[in-house]
Amino acid sequence: RDLRVLVTGGAGFIGSHACKALAAAGARPVVLDDLSTGHADAVRWGPLVRADVRDRAAVRAALTEHEATCVLHFAGKAYVDESVRDPAKYYDNNVGGMIGLLAGCTAAGVDRIVFSSSCATYGVPERLPITEATPQRPITPYGRTKLICEQMLRDHDDAHGLRHVSLRYFNAAGADPEGEIGERHDPETHLIPRALLAAAGQAPALKVFGTDYPTPDGTCIRDYIHVSDLARAHVRAIEHLMMGGGGSLALNLGSGKGLSVHEIAATVEAVTGRAVPVEAAPRRPGDPPELTADPGLAARLWGFRSERSGIAEIVRDAAPWFGL
Ligand code: UFG
Repeated sequence: RDLRVLVTGGAGFIGSHACKALAAAGARPVVLDDLSTGHADAVRWGPLVRADVRDRAAVRAALTEHEATCVLHFAGKAYVDESVRDPAKYYDNNVGGMIGLLAGCTAAGVDRIVFSSSCATYGVPERLPITEATPQRPITPYGRTKLICEQMLRDHDDAHGLRHVSLRYFNAAGADPEGEIGERHDPETHLIPRALLAAAGQAPALKVFGTDYPTPDGTCIRDYIHVSDLARAHVRAIEHLMMGGGGSLALNLGSGKGLSVHEIAATVEAVTGRAVPVEAAPRRPGDPPELTADPGLAARLWGFRSERSGIAEIVRDAAPWFGL
């Protein structure tokens, strides 16, 4: 029978792409989402249970009724700057969400979880690129909630043998190459969509948050990975857990390449043929100067490599969502 996977946050950006990849691999995603930020029309590959992951009874019921045997846990809040201004919202949703999920899973007898963690758990790393052994010293409430969730999973493994994988995403970007789903955040804070909005004339200019960082062009450097590559990694993580892989595994998911804000703006111009007006702006609180992944461990353990994460491909796949 097909494998049933509960996907919390499956109506969101990365979650919906993971559902598509699961369905393509022959599994059935069951989405649990409260639609606070997700979109019901992005749930296309299985049923939608409208519920909050903090509601442990709802998690238990969804697992039991749909006979799910493992979980992809995407649900959570993910605006770094908002977490600095309103930490309670992040502890409540992200840590509270993990509490609800673990309680629901325990009640339903489900012991396999793949968790959406983040490079934000590393804070400002002493050395680049970042490996999984790099000390995790987050500098924002958002990063701290993700680190606490990783630790909660490890504690449940120690106590009850919970099998789990924490996937530390670098910067998720792009959209489904077939155009079925894309990135729709409100407000949109991420760099590539904002650069596309500026190129499309839907925003006056791209604000560049900080031009005096200790980087070659003075702007922040990030590692962008295509959302479809991320989605594929989740299918691989489920396979790992279903094949009996255990323990507390944590893996970086990035392209291994660092690109500055200016380089992104230049790529958007090259790919779309439109100008991206830019405007220097103050630094954004909580932004480390440079984050790049060493993606080697996922390659060694799983043979996983990003395939669509060249920056031109990422921008090309995202552009149609902005009418470009
Ligand atoms: N940036 C701008 N102008 C913008 C938007 C972004 O200059 O209008 C800069 C940011 O300052 C940053 C870079 O572009 O240097 C990328 O910013 P994003 O907001 O696109 O993404 P982040 O690097 O802030 O990503 C972070 C964490 C992720 C986390 C994500 C959640 O690195 O782990 O926020 O939204 F998941």
